[in-house]
Amino acid sequence: MQLYSVSQLLKQENKLPEVEVKGWVRTFRANRFIALNDGSTLNNIQCVVDFETMEEAVLKRITTGAALHIKGELVESQGKGQAVEIIVSELEVLGDSDPEAYPIQPKKHSFEFLREHAHLRTRTNTFSAVMRLRSALSYAVHKYFNDHGFYYMHTPIITGSDAEGAGEMFKVTKLDVKNPPINGNGKVDYSKDFFGKETNLTVSGQLEAETYAMSLGKVYTFGPTFRAENSNTSRHLSEFWMIEPEVAFMDLPGNMDLAEDFMKYVLNYVLEHNRDDLDFLEQRLLNEEKTKPQAERSDMSLIEKLKFVIDNNFKRVSYTEAIDILRNCKPNKKKKFKFPIEEWGTDLQSEHERYLVEKHFKCPVILFDYPANIKAFYMRLNEDGKTVRAMDILFPGIGEIVGGSQREERLEVLKEKMAALDIPEEELWWYLDLRKYGTAVHSGFGLGFERLVMFVTGMGNIRDVIPYPRTPQNAEF
Ligand code: 4AD
Ligand code: MG
Repeated sequence: MQLYSVSQLLKQENKLPEVEVKGWVRTFRANRFIALNDGSTLNNIQCVVDFETMEEAVLKRITTGAALHIKGELVESQGKGQAVEIIVSELEVLGDSDPEAYPIQPKKHSFEFLREHAHLRTRTNTFSAVMRLRSALSYAVHKYFNDHGFYYMHTPIITGSDAEGAGEMFKVTKLDVKNPPINGNGKVDYSKDFFGKETNLTVSGQLEAETYAMSLGKVYTFGPTFRAENSNTSRHLSEFWMIEPEVAFMDLPGNMDLAEDFMKYVLNYVLEHNRDDLDFLEQRLLNEEKTKPQAERSDMSLIEKLKFVIDNNFKRVSYTEAIDILRNCKPNKKKKFKFPIEEWGTDLQSEHERYLVEKHFKCPVILFDYPANIKAFYMRLNEDGKTVRAMDILFPGIGEIVGGSQREERLEVLKEKMAALDIPEEELWWYLDLRKYGTAVHSGFGLGFERLVMFVTGMGNIRDVIPYPRTPQNAEF
């Protein structure tokens, strides 16, 4: 007897006298047909039991959600819908599932309901497809960078710095929060804390990645990052995964080329390797679209969207050009933007980003050369003295998916910038060292992994593309 996965069994072309499989019951019909799934594929293997010879007590335990171990003969199926099936010779119930209580009944469940049962939701086709794609995408990320001479670097989760300077950090402390030690200034004395200083969960591995780029050349991180921003949107998480490459001797145009090539590679990877799951999710979306009025329906299917991104150049547009477009456009016949663009220098809202991508250019857009004062301290100041070599990549249906820049490599300019923003040099002495010893042009970017998974799977809410989403007021699991 050999143990097979369902996916392996469904690919068999010949009869096999003895096979073995383990999985969970999706449905049990007519006291005879078990649809068994083990997570290896969307499809179930049909296992046929002979209810006349099987013990009544065992038959009763074959319920939706139960875990089974089945042995039998793999044969050509007599019924419709599947090529092969197993004629069961031995069946063991490994784990019972109370049919009255089991939450994942064989019917349509809302995503809200499934979020409340996040520990069981991958027993549905939609969530198992999404999570298999998430896994494949993360493999493709590692494969791309490994094939292109990058080293995978593990940046710390607990840090003492605020890479983005946005102050939206979760504190890490062992202090008694009700009764912390207080210093002479009446403030909490973090020198008495576990690490002897104030620490937080990282918002980005970039600063540490820069240190390795300036010795190993090409590196990337791929790990969890944390933001304590109170944004309750369908595109923000408090804990999300970020992919951050960092490359020495690379300027901003090189950074754009890298990001575009990389994103096209990972999209192509899943198109080639995960077509069944993509086809299933595409069909799910097409069915959902049918319930919308014609005008709101998307003009491209999920797979057409992926191919479109792979086959077309991302449009590169400066912030200044974008502002001109946004000032002179009519986003809607009647409506204006909720936040009209008054002047050069204002930050773009997601309505502006989506207008540029979805209505104006109708393709992914790389916006670059942003005003210095709306971007982080480490970005390379341009010769005009007012813009920085930043880039954001905007995707249809998602908005910002990548944020990156060429880094300020000049010690004096960086110090001035930090002083202007009240960032103490003592905190980032090691970061400044890079500009003292063999400084060089270097660049990198951060791709929000969940936003990529949203784009690939067509899921509309970021909470549905990560196993256990963390958002304000929600860390149930
Ligand atoms: O634009 P951000 O803040 O850039 C950085 O953190 C840089 N240090 C990256 C770098 O240059 N190495 O974040 C990068 C990306 C965003 O474009 C977005 O896709 C994602 O991370 N992101 C979030 N995803 C989910 N939830 C959130 N709260 C996110 N905040 C950012
Ligand atoms: Mg950003």
